[in-house]
Amino acid sequence: SWTTGNVIDEQVAAIREQVGDKRAICGLSGGVDSAVAAALVARAIGDQLTCVYVDHGLMRKGETEQVEKDFVAATGVKLVVVDAEERFLSALAGVSDPEQKRKIIGREFIRVFEQAQAEIIADEGPEVAFLVQGTLYPDVVESGGGTGTANIKSHHNVGGLPEDLEFKLIEPLRKLFKDEVRMVGQELGLPDEIVQRQPFPGPGLGIRIVGEVTKDRLDLLRDADAIAREELTAAGLDRDIWQCPVVLLADVRSVGVQGDGRTYGHPIVLRPVSSEDAMTADWSRLPYDVLAKISTRITNEVADVNRVVLDITSKPPGTIEWE
Ligand code: XMP
Repeated sequence: SWTTGNVIDEQVAAIREQVGDKRAICGLSGGVDSAVAAALVARAIGDQLTCVYVDHGLMRKGETEQVEKDFVAATGVKLVVVDAEERFLSALAGVSDPEQKRKIIGREFIRVFEQAQAEIIADEGPEVAFLVQGTLYPDVVESGGGTGTANIKSHHNVGGLPEDLEFKLIEPLRKLFKDEVRMVGQELGLPDEIVQRQPFPGPGLGIRIVGEVTKDRLDLLRDADAIAREELTAAGLDRDIWQCPVVLLADVRSVGVQGDGRTYGHPIVLRPVSSEDAMTADWSRLPYDVLAKISTRITNEVADVNRVVLDITSKPPGTIEWE
């Protein structure tokens, strides 16, 4: 019968068999799937696994620390953190177009990850033969069921490496659905903040600032987002909503009044949605008192924000994210 214990035992045995005395690399995104996949592989092969986390500076408040501290504490995993904030911010400077932003973030991410991979291989030698991926059952079905290998090209001429490296894939979550992955993660001792995390886009807050992405705007958005998350959690609403993007309209200003003074600040948009699979969504009917609390706190606590607005658009026609 299906139990998380059985799944873990089976996968641990299979991974040990597959990897032998070779080594593996796993990219951590901060999301549930890569965290559980990494924890499972770490359980099987310990420090034959190296995890890589690219900090692109577009994460929410506390998320990088969660990976660096809580995830490492729970799994004992060997982790390389690449601080790439400046690199991403300079690549994004002057760019406002959503598709451009997505392309730049995706491109830089691959470059930074591959460079980290190449450095690990340079350190640990050609035994590094496996790449861990948090592919779930629905992803397998969608992509036609194939499995196998991944190629990386080394752009950075690390001495003695072949031009093209071929990794075999370890995909320990291939038979699982999302709720099962969460159960396995819990059984492996991962903290709730990681296992119960709501979806968050790979390009992070970079696509939640309408306008150019700058460090100041990111810090402002991180503060507003942290307040919204805190109040939604305090109200016990995390399980009722699918996710709640918090968006900064950086190119919009409106007049407000605070104390005795006129302000000319930016609006923050709350985009709480309910959904089954993110393909369609409806706006969440959050209790007014929770919305009021979030609005009061954001306008009081976050400088340069003088207005909080609620997005009441379903998907379609709106997407969940604003960019
Ligand atoms: P949209 O905005 O298309 O979003 O309604 C649907 C779901 O996908 C998430 N999302 C992303 N996830 N990389 C991701 O990993 C991305 O580039 C990305 N864009 C959107 C979004 O948060 C929602 O859950």
